[in-house]
Parts: sequence; C-alpha cells; structure tokens
Amino acid sequence: MAYRTRDFRRPDFETLWRIDQHCFDPQLAYSRLELAFYMRRPGAFTLVAEAEGGEPPSNGKAQRRILGFIVAETRRKTGHIITIDVVIEARREGIGSGLLRAAEQRLRQAGAAVVELETPVNNATAIRFYKQMGYYVDKTVTGYYSSQMDALVMRKELEAVAKS
Ligand SMILES: CC(C)(COP(=O)(O)OP(=O)(O)OC[C@H]1O[C@@H](n2cnc3c(N)ncnc32)[C@H](O)[C@@H]1OP(=O)(O)O)[C@@H](O)C(=O)NCCC(=O)NCCS
Repeated sequence: MAYRTRDFRRPDFETLWRIDQHCFDPQLAYSRLELAFYMRRPGAFTLVAEAEGGEPPSNGKAQRRILGFIVAETRRKTGHIITIDVVIEARREGIGSGLLRAAEQRLRQAGAAVVELETPVNNATAIRFYKQMGYYVDKTVTGYYSSQMDALVMRKELEAVAKS
C-alpha cells in the first residue's frame, strides 16, 4: 500500500482520535482530551501515514486518507512512544514499522539514546511487532492501566542501531 509519512496537522485530530477509538478497547482508548494532552506535551510530536497514489484531492480542504499515526516524545535522553495506531484494513503492510522507524529517527535527532514504551501484557500483536522492531521486555508494571491491567515496559537502544 503506497503511503507517505508527514507531520500531524491540526485538521487531522478528529481522524486520529477515531482511529485510536477503533484500535483499542474502551478502557484503553484515549478521550479527546487525553490524546490532545499527550500530543501537546513538551518534546512530543505526531507523525501521520497517509495514503498515496490516485488523484490528489481537488478541493483544497480535502485530505488523503490517514492510515495510521504515532505519538512520541523525548524526555532528556529517553524517547517514549506514547501510541501507535494503524487502521485495521492497512495492517501487515509495513505502515506501523515505517511510522516507528520515522519516529525513532526523529527521537535520535532530538538526542534520545534509548526508546521506551508500555504495552498491555495481553497485546500479543503489539509485543510481536515491537520485538520484530528490535525492542526487548525490560520489566512488568503491575496495574499500569487504571490499576486493572499490567504493562510490559519495552526498550530499544538507538545508538546500537545507528552503528549497525
Ligand atoms: C501494532 C500495529 C501498530 C502494527 O502495525 P502494522 O502496520 O500492522 O505493522 P507492520 O506491517 O509494520 O508489521 C511489522 C512486523 O510486526 C510483526 N507483526 C505485526 N502485526 C502482527 C500480527 N498481527 N501478528 C504477528 N506479527 C505481527 C510482524 O513481524 C510484521 O512483519 P511481517 O508482516 O513482515 O511479518 C497495529 O497492529 C495496530 O495498530 N494495532 C492496534 C494498536 C496497538 O496495539 N498499538 C500498539 C500500542 S502499545
């Protein structure tokens, strides 16, 4: 599936929120306020994957279809993936890995040496995806999600990647 990665623009917000609602169980999906809060945090950025090919939108206001997005941030030397969501119909096409690689590059440029993220212990797809992308399980945090679900903290050293 042809797509390109670009920075978030304000009109994307509602689409991103809806994608997040579809990607996660109601107890894990962000409210609009939560998503906006994380996207606006100092050091945070959002990258969007949008479909390419076909006719470009003729109306200046029309958008190409958004297939996925990633929200990440840097905290000193540590990058943090806040969320990554790909629409169901576009999965296993390399979009998630493309978004993650683009975010890692941005985090590296911002001075991050490692990237950390949390994922629910029962999210087998995400765990496989992150392992495939070079992440390892660092620890388990009990009750991370509203005291009801444990999280795996996964990490990846970026410097080691840059040298290879
Ligand atoms: C996790 C997610 C972002 C992956 O996006 P994606 O675009 O499908 O990922 P990719 O196509 O780049 O997959 C890269 C590799 O990850 C692994 N992988 C991805 N999805 C997988 C699945 N369902 N089962 C097994 N392995 C999987 C595979 O090794 C895959 O490579 P391959 O297709 O060549 O075998 C997507 O499934 C998603 O949005 N899930 C819902 C939201 C979510 O759980 N996000 C993570 C929050 S912590």
